[in-house]
Amino acid sequence: MSLEERARRQRELDRAAGVVAGCRTCGIGATRRNAVYGEGDPCATLMVVGEGPGETEDKLGRPFVGRAGELLDRMLLSIDLPREDVFICNTVKCRPTLDTGQRLANRPPTPDEMRNCRPYLDAQIAIVRPRVILALGAPAAKSFMGERFSITKQRGQWFEGPEGIPTIATFHPAYILRQTGGAMSEVKKLVWADLKAVRTRLAEPAAPETKPEQVSLFD
Ligand code: URA
Repeated sequence: MSLEERARRQRELDRAAGVVAGCRTCGIGATRRNAVYGEGDPCATLMVVGEGPGETEDKLGRPFVGRAGELLDRMLLSIDLPREDVFICNTVKCRPTLDTGQRLANRPPTPDEMRNCRPYLDAQIAIVRPRVILALGAPAAKSFMGERFSITKQRGQWFEGPEGIPTIATFHPAYILRQTGGAMSEVKKLVWADLKAVRTRLAEPAAPETKPEQVSLFD
């Protein structure tokens, strides 16, 4: 990838992040501290898509920087991918919260919130054009594979995702962290198999570039 192309994609991402920073389409746009656009290599071969920012991500404005993020970093390293080489983002860019009376708890994004935020995710995919998308957890997986997708039955299988990009889902790192004992070992084994499938796919020769390099999404 030429330096010019890398710089162009980064400019597109920065521009799109600016649009997201001003977005107040849903209620979570009003309660967030920071929008969490996503980050990583603008020419990444792998895009990782999580559910939505949690408390730490909301505070820091960066995706997957809490406990689940630490585990995600280790998962990626296990297939020789440092975090910086991947593009990491979420189905929604603002933290979905639930006011319990005592505190603001994290909650999964609603279908409406995911729908409102989808153009931003689609733009990220169009700019980065990864060779593989890895969806973490059921909400992200369903957003690509449809409502009927079952994370327990269909994780580890390849689907045709947005723009025809091979897409696979695995368990969310936060879910792995909630397991204990034998259940955790079992889940980790399945996730490891899914990660190896990603590694194998990425090792296959890349298809020749068929699309023009120029995309300008916000003109
Ligand atoms: N969980 C997610 O789904 N995304 C984050 O960015 C952090 C935790």
